[in-house]
Amino acid sequence: KIVCDYCQSYVLVGDERTCIPEQYLQFADEIQNFEVKNDDIWVASYPKTGTTWTQEMVWMIANNLDFEGGKEPLGSRFPFFEVSTLFDQKKVYTAIELKEDEYNLNSVEFAAKQKSPRFIKTHLPFSLLPDQIKNGTKSPKIIYVWRNPKDTCVSYYHHGTLFQGWRTDLETFAEIFMADKAMYGSYWKNIFGYWEHRNSPNILFIKYEDMKTNLPSVIRQVAKFLEKDLTDEQIELLTKHLSFESMKNNPSVNFETYLERLRRSNFVVKDGSFIRTGVVGKYKEELSPEIVKKLDEWIKKNVTGTSFEQEYN
Ligand code: A3P
Repeated sequence: KIVCDYCQSYVLVGDERTCIPEQYLQFADEIQNFEVKNDDIWVASYPKTGTTWTQEMVWMIANNLDFEGGKEPLGSRFPFFEVSTLFDQKKVYTAIELKEDEYNLNSVEFAAKQKSPRFIKTHLPFSLLPDQIKNGTKSPKIIYVWRNPKDTCVSYYHHGTLFQGWRTDLETFAEIFMADKAMYGSYWKNIFGYWEHRNSPNILFIKYEDMKTNLPSVIRQVAKFLEKDLTDEQIELLTKHLSFESMKNNPSVNFETYLERLRRSNFVVKDGSFIRTGVVGKYKEELSPEIVKKLDEWIKKNVTGTSFEQEYN
């Protein structure tokens, strides 16, 4: 067990030494040996890059715009593979008075038990995915969404203060993020791990900013990837359903019920919502010019000369 030298509370796992809570170690074998199915549909991403938005889009496309079925909470329709590795669920769920039949303490098992086609969300880097994906014996469809790191960083910071009681300031968090010491470690390794496999027919890369500028076009791209035909009318309906306002007011995706419970139990010290601003370039209002300069240099260092450079610009 190698403990993170920065926070002392994460462990560093795998060849890439990904920062993750120690609880991960209890599930590491189960994750590696997870029985993957070829018709699984995964959404993978670094945290705060538009994962929830992408999940809702993917689920709706794959389920022929089943708006009625979509009223079930996203977490049940599209489970978060490794969430049990991130915090002491029993402690939190007991404190917020969830009944035992309202949650599952083993998210890996919960994902395994879904009926096919299974929908699975993960933030794990490619290097920590189940062996059957890494060695290519199984080829589920994987949609990887990424977002510019400056907005990702700011969004991640707000998420931490809202859900996890972080008390650091944003500038300190930006340093932690650039040092690969945030939960899930390196933003770049996460992207590049999947990017290396971008030419595999079962992997699709999409970008948050493209969803903002032309959602119908991304919907078409994802529908093609999932081998689904959508009419223009359906694309229009889905675009409306996925709009920021609609998602913000949709209890099955906005985490409000969960947040409300956290608030009532004084777990949340700050006001705010999960679907927060949804704006590209919002970082400019929140980060100092000095930190933006540091982030820009860090981006340049990581992207210049790589095959991702063109995608980034
Ligand atoms: P902000 O915090 O910048 O507002 P994730 O699901 O990976 O945690 O990502 C959360 C981010 O996606 C948040 O970004 C959230 O507001 C944004 N988001 C969620 N739904 C969205 C939508 N329909 N349109 C635009 N942004 C959305």
